Amino acid sequence: MPCNCCEITDSAFSEAEARSDLKSYRRRGPAEHTKLILNAIRSLHLKNAELLDIGGGIGALHHELLDDVADKATHVDASSAYLKEAKDETARRGHHERVNFIYADFTSVASELPQADIVTLDRVVCCYPDFHRLLKAAAEHSRRVLAFTYPRETWYLRFGLRVINFLQRLRKDPFRVFLHPVAEMDSLLKKEGFERITLRRLFVWEMALYQKSGGVA
Ligand SMILES: C[S@@+](CC[C@H](N)C(=O)[O-])C[C@H]1O[C@@H](n2cnc3c(N)ncnc32)[C@H](O)[C@@H]1O
Repeated sequence: MPCNCCEITDSAFSEAEARSDLKSYRRRGPAEHTKLILNAIRSLHLKNAELLDIGGGIGALHHELLDDVADKATHVDASSAYLKEAKDETARRGHHERVNFIYADFTSVASELPQADIVTLDRVVCCYPDFHRLLKAAAEHSRRVLAFTYPRETWYLRFGLRVINFLQRLRKDPFRVFLHPVAEMDSLLKKEGFERITLRRLFVWEMALYQKSGGVA
């Protein structure tokens, strides 16, 4: 179901960029920020889980987790270029019957989707203006675990993202990047019944893994 968000992300993520991401994944494996999510999830020793990957791009998280953690996955993405590459790789790995692909803004279709054990958003909240809406919907769809990466709140990223958005304005491109307040995202997830059990940092990205309070994972 194409949407305004999809129009914006479709123009932001070109077919060439998606192809290049897949090429890099095939050569070098998952990116460092994606590895943080994979390691944190694998440390929980879940088996036969259902995965909901929001904004999964070329699908690295489900390509990997379907090998040992998940039985099936849903990949919701607002970029048709990324979905095409994700589908090709899924077929190449023989996972095509285990992944459901949905072209949509997750917040628009969330009410039609079932819950999953694990919900992931790798570098997605920073593409979306309303993190409350996106994260709340994501949390409501997780039975056990939610893991996501986002840009760190540092002076150099505040400056860098301002420059990127300034250039986007000059190009008259409506796509923007967002540095959302980590404390507010954390407090939202706590209100939704999750506790943060892992926090890891790279130079740009931070990864937080939340588990439903009560330790059901
Ligand atoms: C920077 S890319 C990250 C892709 C991949 N997760 C990765 O880390 O390589 C952001 C992705 O999030 C998707 N996205 C952003 N907002 C979304 C939303 N509201 N619903 C679904 N997908 C969304 C974009 O289409 C894009 O595929």
